[in-house]
Parts: sequence; structure tokens; C-alpha cells
Amino acid sequence: MLSEVQAHLPISHPWRERIHFFQCVPSTNDLAKELARKDAPEGTVILADRQTGGRGRLGRSFHSPSGMGIYMSVILRPKCQPSELMHLTCATAQAMCDAVERAASIRPGIKWINDLVWQKKKLGGILTELILTPAGDLDSAVVGIGINCSQAAEDFPPELRPIATSLLLASGRKTDRTTLCAAMIDALYSMSETLLTGREVMLERYRRDCVTIGQDVILLRGNSSVEAYAAGVDDTGGLILRFPSGETETVQSGEVSVRGMFGYI
Ligand code: BTN
Repeated sequence: MLSEVQAHLPISHPWRERIHFFQCVPSTNDLAKELARKDAPEGTVILADRQTGGRGRLGRSFHSPSGMGIYMSVILRPKCQPSELMHLTCATAQAMCDAVERAASIRPGIKWINDLVWQKKKLGGILTELILTPAGDLDSAVVGIGINCSQAAEDFPPELRPIATSLLLASGRKTDRTTLCAAMIDALYSMSETLLTGREVMLERYRRDCVTIGQDVILLRGNSSVEAYAAGVDDTGGLILRFPSGETETVQSGEVSVRGMFGYI
């Protein structure tokens, strides 16, 4: 797998020799964070065929069976404060839309803030984690991406079947996982180059791909759920909500999740 991914990248690609492949790990994000704490360089890529403890946002799990998905985490070391990285998950989602389009010829939508979707079902997700120094400065960031590639409907556990899809189901044909991995690595490299300078352009593109904007949604926060209209995404990646009372509020990804009125999207 490793040499095939490398073969799809130019010899001169700055991250080509920083890719590590594992048959099975608990979570590629956990391993990437461990390596980041040991000073692994920017562009260190952890890839696994299978995860036993794949994690999603808000403590959810990410189903990660062998041979069917891509489970990847990358270490980034942007020179900025943590507060300047509010848009990192959006930038990663945007880069992943580009990569999927390049490798699988379909462009997913984005369900705010971190889910890649196709026709109201989840194709993949992104988990961004920051590592801070004891003084609270940014040490590094880990972006983790999971994409369902070759699952047939019955390969998903029954509880995921109504809400999950794969590139195979979405596009009707097989996508080579190593081609997609290389496209993801290259898209993440490009993203890292413009992360601090290209935020506005990236967010304009994110808004075009985001299927949440313009929808009536249910905002889930702690034990409460309220209806709102998703009016837009602000210039940090926050979701601008308008409530039936006419009041508006911008919510950040750490605190809430959003559901469609009639299902997952
Ligand atoms: C979500 O659904 O909220 C995000 C899912 C992110 C899953 C990926 S798979 C690779 C990396 N390792 C993890 O444990 N999670 C991310």
C-alpha cells in the first residue's frame, strides 16, 4: 500500500517520504498526536488499513473496517496561535472535496462542519485536533480523515445503513484507494501552503460546497435541541443560525452538532 501511494506522488513531493502505513491501529489521530509530541515534522502522514478505535467529533466513533476505507491523519505545524486555526476543519473538508473529485470524479457536499456527504448520506468525516504547549501556544495540529470507499450497503452495520454511503455506492464504480490517498495527501499539502493566507478564498469555496447553508436545521447542544435556519458560514467557519424569534447566533463546531429537520442532513 505504501509504495503504491508513493508511486502516485512525484518523487519531489515534500511529503512523499513522510508517509507511514500500518495494518491496524486504534486510531491514526492518536498515533499522529503521539508522533507530533515527539517532534515528527509537518507532513508526517499516518495511514491505516483498519482502526479499532476510530474516533469522530464529539466523542463519536468512526466505523473503520479493513480494506474498505481510507483512514489517514496528517501532522501540520502552522506558525500561528491556536485562535488563528478556527477554519482548519473547513479547509480540510474543502481540500478533501478536491481530492475526491480528482480521484473518484464526483464532488461530495459538506455537511457543516466536517462531514463529506453524498445525496444526504455520510461519505466521510474529519477530526481536527490541536496540540498545545504548556504555555497554551500551538505546538501542532493533527487532521484526521476517514472516507468510506468500497462498502456495499450491507457492509455497514445496520444502524449506519440509513445514513452512510461509500464512493462505490455514490459513483457506481471502484475508486483505487492508493490513488485517492495520494490525491488527499497532495490536497492537504496545498492546503497547508495557503492555510494562513488563503482563508477568505477557501471559505468562499467552502460555502459553495456546504449543503447545510439555506436549510432548516435542528441545533443540538448538550441535552437541548432547537430549530433554526442555517443562514451562512462566517469568516472563521462558524455557522450563522437564525431562530424563529428572529434572533441570530453564530455557533462554533466544538459545542454543537446540527441535524436536518427530517434526518441526518
Ligand atoms: C466524524 O465523523 O466526526 C469524523 C470522523 C473522522 C475519522 C477519521 S479516520 C482517521 C482519523 N482517525 C480517527 O480516529 N479519526 C479520524
